[in-house]
Amino acid sequence: MADEVQQSAPAAAAGGKFLGDPPPTDSRGEHDSEKSSNAPQVEPSDAKPTVLITGCSEGGIGAALALQFWERGYHVYATARDVGKIGGPLSGLSDVSLLTLDVTKPEHIREAAAVVERQTDGRGLDVLVNNAGKAHFMPLLDDDLDDVRNTIEVNYVAPLAVTQAFAPSLIKAKGVSVYLTSLAGYLNIPYVGIYAGLKRATEIMAETLRLEMQPFGVDVMELVTGGVQSNGQKHYDDWRLPEGSRYKRIEPLIKKVAQGHDEWARMDTMEYAAGVVEEIISRRTKGRLWCGGGADMTKGAMVPAGWDQDAMDAMAAQGQGLDLLGKGAGVEEQGKAEYRILG
Ligand SMILES: NC(=O)c1ccc[n+]([C@@H]2O[C@H](COP(=O)([O-])OP(=O)(O)OC[C@H]3O[C@@H](n4cnc5c(N)ncnc54)[C@H](OP(=O)(O)O)[C@@H]3O)[C@@H](O)[C@H]2O)c1
Repeated sequence: MADEVQQSAPAAAAGGKFLGDPPPTDSRGEHDSEKSSNAPQVEPSDAKPTVLITGCSEGGIGAALALQFWERGYHVYATARDVGKIGGPLSGLSDVSLLTLDVTKPEHIREAAAVVERQTDGRGLDVLVNNAGKAHFMPLLDDDLDDVRNTIEVNYVAPLAVTQAFAPSLIKAKGVSVYLTSLAGYLNIPYVGIYAGLKRATEIMAETLRLEMQPFGVDVMELVTGGVQSNGQKHYDDWRLPEGSRYKRIEPLIKKVAQGHDEWARMDTMEYAAGVVEEIISRRTKGRLWCGGGADMTKGAMVPAGWDQDAMDAMAAQGQGLDLLGKGAGVEEQGKAEYRILG
C-alpha cells in the first residue's frame, strides 16, 4: 500500500503555510490557485469558546464535527493536511479559521499550537478533537512494514504529539481533549488488525491521560465510534493484495469489504456529529462515549457489566502522586468518570 501521507501532502502543506496568512501572489499578482479557497483567518472574539479539530476534509467526521461546533457558537479551528480539501460550507464561514496541519509533521503542530495560543490570548483552547486518522486494510501476513510504521505514526503517535503541543492551551482553559477511537478495537475483524490495535491503544493512552490531566482540570473523552458515513472507505479503488499473497483467491471479496460493502450500519455523519458534540459540550461524559452504528450492541457484548470505573480509577491512581498536583483535590474527589451509550 502506498504511503498516503507522503503522496497526498501538497506543496503548500509541506511548507507549513497557514491559511490565515495573507494569500501569496504569483508574478502576475494573482493569488496562488492552490490556496484560492482559503478563507481569511478570523480571530476568535473574547466571548466565543474555541475548538480545534484535526482532519477536517469535506465529507468526513472532522468536517461534520466542525460544523456542529460552529452552529453552537464556537470559534472553530478546522485543520487538514490539505486545506483545499476542507471546502464545502466550512471554508466560507465567519468564526472558522482554516489551518494547515499534517499531524505527522512536528513543525505544523508547533505552528498551529502557536497560532491558537496567540489568538486565544491567554484564554486557552476549550476543546481539542484528535480526529485525523488513516484507515488501513490488509491481511497481516501481507502487510508492508513501512506502511504499518506510517499508520502507527498517524493513528497513535500523532494524537499524543498534538495533545502535548496543545496541553498548555487546554490547561489554561480547563478544556477537554477528545480522541476518535473505534469499535474495531473491541472486535477481531480480519484485515484491520493494525488499525484496530492502534485505535484501542489510543483509547488506553487517552484513559491514562484522563487521570494524568485531571489534576490540571482537563477532561478527556474517547469517542468509541462504530459505523459512520465518511470518506474512510473511499480510499480503496486501487487497493490490491501483493503478488504471491496467500489470500489472492478471495481478493475481490476482501476489496469489497474494504470499500464498505459489508453488514455494518453506518450512521449519518451529521447525526453522529450532532450527538457527540452535545455530549462533549455538556461535559457529562468523561472517558468512553460509545457512539455510531453498532456501538450499543458491541459495548453490550464486549464490556462486562458492573465495573465501577471510579473505584478502578482510584485504585490505579493510588500512590501515584497525582492527588498532590493541581489545586489540592485528589483524583477521587475531582468528578466522576461516566460511561454512556449514545443513540
Ligand atoms: N467512519 C467510521 O465509521 C469510523 C469508525 C471508527 C473510527 N473512525 C475514526 O474517525 C476519524 C475520522 O475518520 P473518517 O471516518 O471521517 O474518515 P475520513 O473521511 O477519511 O477522514 C480522515 C481525516 O483524517 C485526515 N488525515 C489522514 N492523515 C492525516 C495526517 N497525516 N495529518 C492530518 N490529517 C490526516 C484525512 O485527510 P485527507 O483527506 O487528506 O486524507 C481526513 O481529513 C478517524 O480517526 C477514524 O479512524 C471512523
